[in-house]
Amino acid sequence: MDLILFGPPGAGKGTQGALLAARFGLHRLSTGDMLREAVRAGTELGRRAKGIMDAGELVSDDLILAMVRDVLQSDAATNGVVFDGFPRTTAQAEGLDALLLELDRPLTGVLVLRVDDEEIVRRLSGRRGCAQCGVIYHIESDPPARAGVCDRCGAALVQRPDDTEDTIRRRLAVYREQTEPVLAYYRRAGVPVREIEGTGSIEAIQAELVEVLA
Ligand code: AP5
Repeated sequence: MDLILFGPPGAGKGTQGALLAARFGLHRLSTGDMLREAVRAGTELGRRAKGIMDAGELVSDDLILAMVRDVLQSDAATNGVVFDGFPRTTAQAEGLDALLLELDRPLTGVLVLRVDDEEIVRRLSGRRGCAQCGVIYHIESDPPARAGVCDRCGAALVQRPDDTEDTIRRRLAVYREQTEPVLAYYRRAGVPVREIEGTGSIEAIQAELVEVLA
């Protein structure tokens, strides 16, 4: 099963993608997480990506496709992949098609999480993440047991530099301009695209995603 989890910033792709990956034994491929890891590690890719990410713009298609190719060709991808935050442009979708064709892996479908802009601003401005193990929290709707401390590993929680209101609004504009057209690309290609209401409890949304997949 190779699935795309699609939706605007803050729709819950990371939250739901981690649950789907655990449930079905898939690899969650988040290009955002991979880029943040490159920034933390101070690699050439990280240096090139940091300013672009902090401004809410998109990193170039060729850098993203090279990262995705490496993962798809590795053992991590053997049981299937849930793509989170990728593809984000029609050129990336075309590149993914070419990669999957080369590897003889048909795309199962696209699951779209729908959430309105004001809820997204509320979610992202309250998001905190564990810099060590990656668990995501929200200060109001999904808080850790002890403020600022990860329940799983005890490390400090941090706020992403692109989770400020101005940058969140820029990311939403970039999503409408460059990413939403990817859905029309998949519909034209006959790939199943299913839209799911992305508000409500995390558990209820997960149950609906699982039902759609079944
Ligand atoms: P990326 O990391 O992919 O960010 P994004 O798409 O903007 O998505 P987010 O991670 O912000 O949100 P999410 O949908 O995963 O929501 P989450 O589950 O965390 O990309 C960051 C940057 O990297 C991009 O701007 C770009 O510069 C670059 N980049 C990445 N991929 C790229 C690509 N392919 N091409 C080019 N550039 C790329 O949830 C958000 C919050 O809401 C959390 O606090 C969570 O606890 C809470 N929450 C989740 N579900 C619910 C719910 N049901 N109810 C209430 N709260 C909820």
